[in-house]
Amino acid sequence: MLIKAPRGTRDILPPDVGQWQFVEGKAAEMCRIFGYQEIRTPVFEHTELFLRGVGEVTDIVSKEMYTFQDRGERSLTLRPEGTAPVARSYLEHKLYGETQPVKVYYIGPMFRYDRPQAGRYRQFHQFGVEVFGADDPTVDADVMVLALKFFRGLGLSDVTLQVNSVGCSACRSAYRTLLQEQLREKVSGLCVDCTDRYEKNPLRILDCKNVRCHELTENVPMMTDHLCQECATHFTAVKQAMDKLGETYLVNPRLVRGLDYYTKTAFEITSSVLGAQSSLGGGGRYDHLLSTIGGPEIPGIGFAIGLERALLAMEAEKVSIPVANTLDAFVATAGDVGADEALAVTMMLRDAGIAADKDYLGRSLKAQLKFADKKEVRFLIILGDEELKLGMATVRDMKNGTQQSVSMTGLTAHLTALVKEAK
Ligand code: HAM
Repeated sequence: MLIKAPRGTRDILPPDVGQWQFVEGKAAEMCRIFGYQEIRTPVFEHTELFLRGVGEVTDIVSKEMYTFQDRGERSLTLRPEGTAPVARSYLEHKLYGETQPVKVYYIGPMFRYDRPQAGRYRQFHQFGVEVFGADDPTVDADVMVLALKFFRGLGLSDVTLQVNSVGCSACRSAYRTLLQEQLREKVSGLCVDCTDRYEKNPLRILDCKNVRCHELTENVPMMTDHLCQECATHFTAVKQAMDKLGETYLVNPRLVRGLDYYTKTAFEITSSVLGAQSSLGGGGRYDHLLSTIGGPEIPGIGFAIGLERALLAMEAEKVSIPVANTLDAFVATAGDVGADEALAVTMMLRDAGIAADKDYLGRSLKAQLKFADKKEVRFLIILGDEELKLGMATVRDMKNGTQQSVSMTGLTAHLTALVKEAK
């Protein structure tokens, strides 16, 4: 029986890789312009990091982690997200000792054991950024605008930014009690998940997608009306900075997000073209995450964007993605010219930076031309017996059909000029 890729995982095949490289390239370019540097952390971490960092009562930790014991009996977990690992790395390498803030970005696979569906996978890829060591509200605006500009750079127009403030440990615990009081009579009407959330994480009830839960919470007080002075001032300043940049956003007081580490600003970017999995990305401030995982109190903020979803949105919005490079040249042989002769010429072209290939299957000249055509190769180099004896080769432009005889010694220079002109 043929072995297939595990459920919820996907191969990215050569014809699709160009799209990925385009999106990843945009992310890297945008980050460079915004002053971020790349960071790469392992794909697995000690399970403890996510228990403490993301929070034990979150869906991600309680239901969705790929946790396993290694041969040394350690409990390890495939990273379900990038923030806790990057925060761990920042602390482990004492990056707080360097000039602050530290601004990093990452692109890589994440793993969550969830029910796969369109836009939801068990291995998916995120582009994320994290800023450590700055609590200024303009950082919040800067980070959100980076995400927006990234989507614009991809050519997406159906993108909505929703923003909220989830408060800090001081104002949130008072609000949490208030919310529980208000919902006490209504618990029995909530969905199964929200009944569970009532004790553990009542704020999450507010952004439950269940219609009944939404109705039952229609008139409850919202966090934004119960922020402490500091959180309220911070939120106002974030909105002011966004207004000054002329960026539009929607204040959604129900936005809570599924990770426990958020404080103050929380945001999500959605697209209506994505269907049920409408969240393109999300993030927020996490001023206590570093102390929760054993470090000093250092503020942080960041976001992560689901790259599969970004690509799905591009497809739905019919954004054309520039196709990745094809071969510049194909070296074909005619008559009795040996394959080793073709290999030597191909290598000579490659050494000059020309993307070139040859036939490896002993095809006839006609079949070689057909192959080159199928591969959309622009220039064909034909090596014929008679010509070779004279130290010449034929160069054919597959686009306009013109061809000319070129000396072997001048072939590389000739092709380099043609390729340059064609680009
Ligand atoms: P998150 O909201 O859990 O946040 O994930 C961010 C994005 O990853 C989602 O908006 C979605 O586009 C994508 N995503 C999540 N789960 C899946 C899945 N199963 N399949 C496909 N795409 C998925 C975080 O991960 C936080 N670490 C974001 C952050 C960074 N907050 C602060 N810094």
